[in-house]
Amino acid sequence: MTFSTLYNNAKIATMTPDKPYGLIENGAVVISAGLIQWVGPEKYLPEEFRSLPGKNLEGRLLTPALIDCHTHLVYGGSRATEFELRLKGASYEEISRSGGGILSTVKATRTATEEELFTQSLPRFDALLAEGIGTVEIKSGYGLDLETEIKMLRVARKLGQERNVRVKTTFLGVHAIPPEFTSNADAYIDYVCKDVLPAVHADNLADAVDGFCENIAFSTKQISRVFDKARALGLPLKLHAEQLSNLGGAALAANYGALSADHLEYLDEAGVQAMAKSGTVAVLLPGAFYTLRETQFPPLKALHQAGVPIAIATDCNPGSSPMTSILLCVNMACTLFRMTPEEALSGVTRVAAQALGIGGEVGTIEVGKKAELALWNVDQPAELAYRIGDNPLEKMLVNANS
Ligand code: NIG
Ligand code: FE
Repeated sequence: MTFSTLYNNAKIATMTPDKPYGLIENGAVVISAGLIQWVGPEKYLPEEFRSLPGKNLEGRLLTPALIDCHTHLVYGGSRATEFELRLKGASYEEISRSGGGILSTVKATRTATEEELFTQSLPRFDALLAEGIGTVEIKSGYGLDLETEIKMLRVARKLGQERNVRVKTTFLGVHAIPPEFTSNADAYIDYVCKDVLPAVHADNLADAVDGFCENIAFSTKQISRVFDKARALGLPLKLHAEQLSNLGGAALAANYGALSADHLEYLDEAGVQAMAKSGTVAVLLPGAFYTLRETQFPPLKALHQAGVPIAIATDCNPGSSPMTSILLCVNMACTLFRMTPEEALSGVTRVAAQALGIGGEVGTIEVGKKAELALWNVDQPAELAYRIGDNPLEKMLVNANS
């Protein structure tokens, strides 16, 4: 017989979209063999579950485990000096064009051994997990050569194994033009399509493929070539688009049926419509908006009107978003982007799962989904968005035996 557990006396934010937060007062959940077997108001708990060994959650809030659907948390070194330069007046683009920015992290990441990279990345991973996270997406993109891209993705997989947490890896080989290919971006695209991506795929190291579509990175035409290759290999797509300017990257991603287009401050109406049509998720990254002191807002009103699903993520990276707090990200999405707490929490649960193509497995508390739950010492969901620098996580409930 399968071992089942009953959790009762909880306020349950199931995060299903039928009512605010999918909230159930005085709720109960039954989990069995790692899956949710029943959820609902305690008074409707079926007779067969009433005698199960139970745990009283004492009125605390239960949510799905949170999901950070866009990070670059595996990298070497630090960019604190660049932070200082920016405060003295240099822009992100100027620093990038003069060989700093992403390329300085490339240098540090290439130099680090796999063990060093793991050791440097683990504290960032742990900091994220400490705030109720059950799934983290991690991108490559600071190697820009075969060996280092593989090293990064192996470290990403290893982090997930080490902490028994789901890691979804994304190959971001087309993140910047590496020094070996300066002024020859097309030749780099050839190399990525011919050598790097196939090797990464052969080792089963990438769950998706991403790119940086921007004047300081790659054109839509160059991105298309990588997307064609990824599609031929059967890999889902994502794109950094419209972060610093409008190149039409989001529409391109949407036309390829991408899971998500990310950043989107400079997204125009045509891009919004293309995303709505294809069901591509908008992943907004308030940490990068904040760090770069961006003044152009992502077009939230247009996204809402068109019905584009919106996720949010930390974008944890050494340059534009040195942030390892998903709760701070939720708070920033509300305060900076005027998202509602409910929308922001959906953006790190249900919609974030959709942005990773795992919406059928996690992201809400529903029968048949994975029993990956976070228990919080708060009495209403808005508390999770409202506080700054507070972590009210009581514990994770991750399987039938916890
Ligand atoms: O998502 N936009 C491009 N990539 C990262 C920044 C990477 C970096 O500066 O190291 C981002 O913001
Ligand atoms: Fe990013």
